[in-house]
Amino acid sequence: SPWAVLFGGPSPEHEISILTGLQSERVLTAAGEKVTPIYWSPSGEWFLVPSGTEAKDYLDGVPKGSKPIEVRLSGDSGLYVKRKALPISAVLLTLHGGVGEGGGAAALFTLLGIPATGSSLFAGAVGMDKLAFGGLMAAAGIPSLTREHLSADVPPTFAGPYIVKPRFGGSSIGIEIVEDAETALTIAKASAHLRAGAVVEPYRPDLVDLNISFRTYPALEVTAVEKPLRGDTAGALYSYAEKYLSGGEGAEVGFTSAPREFPADIPSSVADLAASLARRVAAVTGLTGVCRLDLLFDEKTGELFVNEVNSIPGAMSLYLWAPQAAAAVVLKDALVEARDHRVVL
Ligand code: DAL
Ligand code: MG
Repeated sequence: SPWAVLFGGPSPEHEISILTGLQSERVLTAAGEKVTPIYWSPSGEWFLVPSGTEAKDYLDGVPKGSKPIEVRLSGDSGLYVKRKALPISAVLLTLHGGVGEGGGAAALFTLLGIPATGSSLFAGAVGMDKLAFGGLMAAAGIPSLTREHLSADVPPTFAGPYIVKPRFGGSSIGIEIVEDAETALTIAKASAHLRAGAVVEPYRPDLVDLNISFRTYPALEVTAVEKPLRGDTAGALYSYAEKYLSGGEGAEVGFTSAPREFPADIPSSVADLAASLARRVAAVTGLTGVCRLDLLFDEKTGELFVNEVNSIPGAMSLYLWAPQAAAAVVLKDALVEARDHRVVL
């Protein structure tokens, strides 16, 4: 049976998921794999979409020629098109944010009896919950910045300025820098992204982003470190706009991959430390499949902190496994891991 790729989903990161899904479909198809693309609309409907659609085909909603999919959880559970079960060996989950990345899709496919890539419900949820993840890092003694729940009742135990982040967010959506806790609370009340929960961290302008990816099959393996390249005019935050909207490839649909240095030009001791942090995070979280760990590096002191983990990283992270042929191997291995070696909790 063919593989399937599932993208879209009800999440603020819906559009990015379309890019990751289509990119994955392209990479796998180019490597000779049979792939069935499945689109999950923002309103929760599923569609079998024609092969080889492009991001612009989704600008007005569901692409032409798509067929509705029935998600059947009772009786002969599975995915059906016109009452016929879709044959699927395993599904590549390319959902970002929300219920998709946060363990919900893992749970759904477990119930459907269809193997799906990535982590268990529990690991996915920890990856999506910045507060739980921060607590886990602290408990495991893995270097990370202090991260606290933003609450009107308990002020932060450290001084501002602060970075305020959605507790369950991604792609830098909804992140704000504020001077004091009072402003943080005001913003949290006003912002739809922060209302579901917010965390505060100390804002340290001296820190730069570094990324590293790991995968768990055929064996635990980590990539080199990559560094997003940020122009002189870049703001304090590595923002959504900078990550996705700064021109270049994908610009016709408003998206691109941000410029990056890979491997990053950093001391080898820092690269080694990043790799060992990635291994520890993989072990402590139980995350499986292909994940990206985001780190913060202080170039002056050499300190390296774990910032967050992405249990379903975006298409641009595929390039961490560059060249493209390598990305195809990584995606196929993830599907094989799901089909033959999945840890079901
Ligand atoms: N959440 C985005 C897609 C990423 O981390 O790659
Ligand atoms: Mg993220």
